[in-house]
Amino acid sequence: MDAFMSLQKSIEKLVRIKCSNYKEDYIKRRILSRMRLTNTEDFEAYHKYLLENPQELDLLRNALTINVTKFFRDPEVFDVIRREILPDLARRRGSIRIWCAGCATGEESYSIAILVYELLTLHKDVNVTIYATDIDAVALQKAMTGIYDRKALDNVDEKRIRKHFISHDDGTFEVRPHIKELVKFRQHDLMSGIPIARYLDAVTCRNVTIYFTEKQKNHLTHLFHSALAVDGYYIIGKTEYLARDVEHLFKPYNVMQKILRKAA
Ligand SMILES: C[S@@+](CC[C@H](N)C(=O)[O-])C[C@H]1O[C@@H](n2cnc3c(N)ncnc32)[C@H](O)[C@@H]1O
Repeated sequence: MDAFMSLQKSIEKLVRIKCSNYKEDYIKRRILSRMRLTNTEDFEAYHKYLLENPQELDLLRNALTINVTKFFRDPEVFDVIRREILPDLARRRGSIRIWCAGCATGEESYSIAILVYELLTLHKDVNVTIYATDIDAVALQKAMTGIYDRKALDNVDEKRIRKHFISHDDGTFEVRPHIKELVKFRQHDLMSGIPIARYLDAVTCRNVTIYFTEKQKNHLTHLFHSALAVDGYYIIGKTEYLARDVEHLFKPYNVMQKILRKAA
């Protein structure tokens, strides 16, 4: 058995992630990034490190699942976006600008684009830009292609699938151009300290910072605060929270769904 196969066997047993459910290239990229951070030169050395350092199991698990996302992940959050946030923005503003930070393979940003598109049938005069950014160039490439397996669309109802996706013979679904054109994908590192734009109406940054240190999380909260217009919406992941030091920057809007608004 070669070093990579033997490492995968240990990952399946110890990390309980079935590597064969993922593309080999994806697993390799994630392990290579852990190898860089642990200063191990090859799969064999990394395997030894993994067996000797139990804390690496969690770090590797996080590295392997980091791009996980789907359309309308946490549907109840998207319900609030659809029923309350987008209509509020459309009423108050001639243009709506939203930043999806840490968009991974694009599902979250396209979900918002679908809701925006449906809203625009009522507000034809509103201009919309959705910036979708991620540090991972490979994930962004997939996002721009906009082709997904059926599984990614579990939370999308049939009517929306027919309206907003092209169904391909190989069983995949491609986002239609009228949705694609609402989203601008860009590579961007959230640690850079530079926002993608300013005076934004909403920022979503969900399930991205869970593995960031508290200090980095606080820097990021300041960054989003500076990127948003006053009263702009800040939507974080269902398991995320703001640290005490930065709580004053935002006021609660929907506590259950983790939606905040920029304080004046
Ligand atoms: C689990 S996905 C979240 C996807 C989506 N927001 C969701 O909630 O379904 C986390 C994403 O954060 C991205 N990410 C991690 N560190 C980042 C950084 N420093 N700058 C930008 N994106 C980052 C990862 O590449 C990954 O695609």
